[in-house]
Amino acid sequence: MCGALRASDAGKKAVLMGWVNRRRDLGSIIFIDLRDRTGVTQVVFNRENSAAHDKAEQLRNEFVIAVIGTVKLRDKDTVNKNIATGEVELIVEELRILNDSKQLPFLPGDTVLPNEEMRLKYRYIDLRRDAMQFNIETRHKVSKAIRDYLSSQGFFEIETPFMTRSTPEGARDYLVPSRVQPGSFYALPQSPQMFKQILMISGFDKYFQIVRCFRDEDFRADRQAEFTQIDLEMTYPRVETVWGVVEGFLTAAFKAAGVDIKTPFPRMSYDEAIRKYGNDKPDMRLPAMVDIREALTPEELEELTTKFRMRKEFPVQLIRIPHAGDISGTERRTIGTYGAYNHVQGPAFVQLMTDPKRFAKDYAALSEKVAAFAKVEADDLWLLAGAANKPENAAVMDQDVQHFCEKCGFLRLDLAQKYASKHKAFEKIGDVAKDYRFLWVSDFPMFDWEKEEKAWMPAHHPFTTLHEEDFAKLEANIDSARDPKSPLGEIRALAYDVVLNGTELGSGSIRIHRQDVQRKIFQALGMSDEEAKARFGFFLEALEYGTPPHGGIALGLDRIVMILTGAESLREVIPFPKTARAVDLMVDAPSPATEKQLKELGLLIKKAT
Ligand code: AMO
Repeated sequence: MCGALRASDAGKKAVLMGWVNRRRDLGSIIFIDLRDRTGVTQVVFNRENSAAHDKAEQLRNEFVIAVIGTVKLRDKDTVNKNIATGEVELIVEELRILNDSKQLPFLPGDTVLPNEEMRLKYRYIDLRRDAMQFNIETRHKVSKAIRDYLSSQGFFEIETPFMTRSTPEGARDYLVPSRVQPGSFYALPQSPQMFKQILMISGFDKYFQIVRCFRDEDFRADRQAEFTQIDLEMTYPRVETVWGVVEGFLTAAFKAAGVDIKTPFPRMSYDEAIRKYGNDKPDMRLPAMVDIREALTPEELEELTTKFRMRKEFPVQLIRIPHAGDISGTERRTIGTYGAYNHVQGPAFVQLMTDPKRFAKDYAALSEKVAAFAKVEADDLWLLAGAANKPENAAVMDQDVQHFCEKCGFLRLDLAQKYASKHKAFEKIGDVAKDYRFLWVSDFPMFDWEKEEKAWMPAHHPFTTLHEEDFAKLEANIDSARDPKSPLGEIRALAYDVVLNGTELGSGSIRIHRQDVQRKIFQALGMSDEEAKARFGFFLEALEYGTPPHGGIALGLDRIVMILTGAESLREVIPFPKTARAVDLMVDAPSPATEKQLKELGLLIKKAT
């Protein structure tokens, strides 16, 4: 292979095959950097061997060739320390051109990348680049480590169908029309959720699958139409049993990529995450927000909240970005405009105190007290965020406090993005690339109020079970699916997420294993018996035939590899990804069906007007 030869091979004969990465023609001597997956070797054509030398004159970028030659030590001053084969070169005796190449739209060795559209259209060239080879190799190592680990723990990898029925994971389905039953459609699975639960009923007590899932949703850097889950399910688990399995396979996966991680991961309830981070997937590389009210006497709190026109019934959050404090007055005023930060729903306005220096001058004692309480250091950027006095009559319900904290959380992340990287605060906190802060977030709410639907919807999915203590609340409010004030919002699920550096890696839960409970959940969601039967009849029936307690989780493989390789988007770690509009630019999919296909499927296309 092109990355194999070392100084100890000097004098040996070798055959190498690969791509012409670079060609330098000095007249009497031609140098080719020959490349394959493993690396690059310099091969040399001397004029003395005129047959090979003449042929080498035809070589161009990305021609595929085979050479036979003798390995020779390079002169000391021509050793290339940047590559593993840099101490040797191959003096060619025979050259075979296995294939030529058209002029390429870009070269794998280019230091400046073409635009992404070009990279995706010519993905096979893009994939030849070192960075992409590294990403795909890492992906392979990670999935192999996970497969090996789970197999060693007694899990069976079992496949589930792709042509199936809708699974309720909250996105739109991709539908596949049936030819033999015109007008009927299969749905591509958003996840194998119901099948894996049925596998528990079928006696396969530890299941996993590294499986493709399909979701028609709005795409972002960390979302794709097709993506891969590490999906697992087991019988009789406690929450901690599932967590232990995940920590085990993540340790193996990260080790395979050369990273040691610490287990067990820290744990936090959903409520705590919202209060301290304003977010259900906290980035633990940054300090939490601190509600400084606890540090103050009632008089001090009065003074502070009056001065900044904040409501004292709401948290007064100290937001701190370490080592980013030295910013200009103009920058501070820009932060001030975040006061209009209102794209998060809810009535609580955010009111900011942006200039701690001024505050320190006018209110020295108070300022010191607050800063000491939140452990502010001299060069930190910090500010106080409170709920604005308007709107005056907003009730201080839990939900208002939650929305307020979420807004503060957005502000915290925005500031971090803007100032932490600019001021290298992340590097000071820890090496970004190697600072992996995992976290379990648990006790999510069972139901979320969906404004558009005007209904309570499952926060995870409708097969998730609830805390035993909250069962009475479910029964008491079972018919309030359309009431936004219903205490359904207070019910906690046995659901959990695993989070890494502010990204949700995976979600799971302990499931409902009794048919009567499952029916109650559907009822609480405002679904009639008939509707539940029509959508999930097979599943409800299966639950009646001796279903053991069970639970599990699914993690996004693409997201894990994205973080491990430091990639900016999932497209960098998926060999053939789709664009934000779910288009595959290389094969040009989706594409129209032929008249014949449409006819066979009994479909008519209504022209867009
Ligand atoms: P959930 O819908 O939270 O749970 O998905 C689990 C994990 O899958 C990944 N993921 C995605 N990755 C890339 N692109 C997407 N469009 C995308 N959507 C989800 C995320 C996410 O955390 N059946 C449940 C799991 C369970 O309860 O066991 C489920 O699918 O990393």
